Amino acid sequence: MTGDGDGFRAVLRYIDRQMAFEPDSYNESYLDRRISARMGRRDVDDYRAYLDVLSSDPEEPAALLDSLSINVTGFFRNPPVWERLRDVLRRLTDDARRVRCWSAPCADGREPYSLAMLARDDPDVDAAALEITATDIDEEALAAAREGRYTGSRTTDLRAQLEPLSAPTDHVALDGDTVTVRDEVRRMVEFERHDLISGRARTGHDLVLCRNLLIYIDADYKEPIFETLTDAVRTDGFLTIGKSETLPLSYRDAYEPFDKKHHIYRKR
Ligand SMILES: C[S@@+](CC[C@H](N)C(=O)[O-])C[C@H]1O[C@@H](n2cnc3c(N)ncnc32)[C@H](O)[C@@H]1O
Repeated sequence: MTGDGDGFRAVLRYIDRQMAFEPDSYNESYLDRRISARMGRRDVDDYRAYLDVLSSDPEEPAALLDSLSINVTGFFRNPPVWERLRDVLRRLTDDARRVRCWSAPCADGREPYSLAMLARDDPDVDAAALEITATDIDEEALAAAREGRYTGSRTTDLRAQLEPLSAPTDHVALDGDTVTVRDEVRRMVEFERHDLISGRARTGHDLVLCRNLLIYIDADYKEPIFETLTDAVRTDGFLTIGKSETLPLSYRDAYEPFDKKHHIYRKR
């Protein structure tokens, strides 16, 4: 952190007491980067001054929460993983009429929509069997997810993100830089708020995606998250974690690799 450790800790205490976010679970350099980003936006360069902004401007806590819940995502993020998930969906829908999937965290919804679109796009997957629940801690991200409308930018080419689909316009409407997920796809996904660290237990899922959250989490809190994830996956079900994430040592025996390179595991 930049200098004043006490000031930094005072901001963390404020977050812990006043906001729906538990800073203890995240690593400090990550928290510092996100808080400093807000300080930059508010033109303050020390933590104490930022604490004043936080406690006096009613809009700042929500802005900080949004910054803390970094929700970078995309359609078909890391495309080779999705090619393997296609196999997983084929297997699962071959074997059962009801296939329960959980995308946690889902950010603005592009991950669970990718799953739904992949299923609809592939003639060997029974999309009607899929029940997709998608959760996140961030209400703003969930509101965007429910809306299902995304606008590209100079650095984000949404049409390119949809390339894994053989017929993208069967699943989304394209209008310039804007992609709107069709109602048939939106109806396949149920969104709800859930905190992976303190939220309620879930069970019985055939496929759980937990990608690109664990990289921000403090080592001590990874285990409770894996406990939640492992309870959520049924025996022989699948768990996918992010490209730069690893299974904690204590959970390696609970899974066998389905595709080690792409971090897809099968629960024993
Ligand atoms: C980088 S995004 C990952 C989205 C998607 N899985 C992907 O890989 O593209 C991380 C998400 O984690 C959410 N998040 C942070 N802490 C969380 C928690 N304790 N429980 C649930 N979601 C959380 C953030 O709000 C954010 O949307």
